[in-house]
Amino acid sequence: MNEKKECLTLAIESSCDETSAAVLVGGRTILSNIIATQIPVHQKFGGVVPEIASRKHIVNIMPVIDEALREAKVELSELDQIAVTYGPGLVGALLVGVSAAKALAFSLDIPLVGVNHLEGHIFANFLAHKNLKPPFVALVVSGGHTSLVQVSDYNSFKLIGQTRDDAAGEAFDKVARVMGLPYPGGPQIDKLAREGNADAINFPQALREKGNFEFSFSGLKSAVLNYLHNMEQKGLEVNKADVAASFQKAVVDVLVDKAIRAVRRAGMQQLVLAGGVAANSSLEGSLREAAVAAGIDFYYPDRILCTDNAAMIGCRAYYQSQHQEFSDLYLNAVPGLALSDK
Ligand code: KG4
Ligand code: ZN
Repeated sequence: MNEKKECLTLAIESSCDETSAAVLVGGRTILSNIIATQIPVHQKFGGVVPEIASRKHIVNIMPVIDEALREAKVELSELDQIAVTYGPGLVGALLVGVSAAKALAFSLDIPLVGVNHLEGHIFANFLAHKNLKPPFVALVVSGGHTSLVQVSDYNSFKLIGQTRDDAAGEAFDKVARVMGLPYPGGPQIDKLAREGNADAINFPQALREKGNFEFSFSGLKSAVLNYLHNMEQKGLEVNKADVAASFQKAVVDVLVDKAIRAVRRAGMQQLVLAGGVAANSSLEGSLREAAVAAGIDFYYPDRILCTDNAAMIGCRAYYQSQHQEFSDLYLNAVPGLALSDK
């Protein structure tokens, strides 16, 4: 790379049901961020069908990359590095992005940077907030993960706690499904909950003891299912808005409480929200309120940067390459990739 010129990254994301490509200049400036969503394809099955997702990624990947380059007005020959999500995610879906990225890096003879999807979600905040700097605590809430992470520096992470069973987004999607709402359920519950009474039903909140930074949402999901089942058996009408609001409150209360306590325990001043569930209006509002009351600075990304996108992967890759953290052409998809301490 020309030392005077800022690094141009082409980033690729295909870990679940969004095929995305982005071009970034430096770490924090997005020139393009193209997202081809497969939601309508999977909606009729009530969730993501892995085999269909892989096939759709194959169809979408090259047109999405072409569009990202066109919109950024960047030629392939101008790129300095290729970034790609290599895990966690669906193996077949990940492999499409990883293969495309390796082929581009090899043919252009430029570095390849393999990125952990969860770290990417956290880094979406650096794109949304140009002045944000570590240290901070990140609450990562997505369809597959619920984790509290201590981010001491751009390349230093420590897992504080995570879910023992279902992820928060997974609980939203499963509860929505039994209530007959379309996939993905999170935004549907969010919308319905606005019309309901959050105190109507007292759903359980697991692992609330002080000092416990783990989460568990499977008991809550079962409690909602039991409630719906009992009401049906008794022939009583269910107020779906009240169920949505009460369920959402049970999730949000736990997330807010543990996130604020984690920031205090880490002796930090900043809290960052990340992942698809960060788009939840109640979570964002409650966290903001609790953070203000605790004197903590709170950050979350714009909606488009909350859910899966390649720009966040490009941002993470920039800081990895600044640390000489590159991948070789043997890079493989790692579906169960964890957020490991560094
Ligand atoms: O981060 P993401 O796009 O994909 C994964 O990496 O999993 O997150 C998707 C998850 C889904 O479970 C979806 O229902 C949830 O984020 N989600 C929401 C909202 N928008 C998306 N959950 C609650 N409220 C929302 N507004
Ligand atoms: Zn994600």
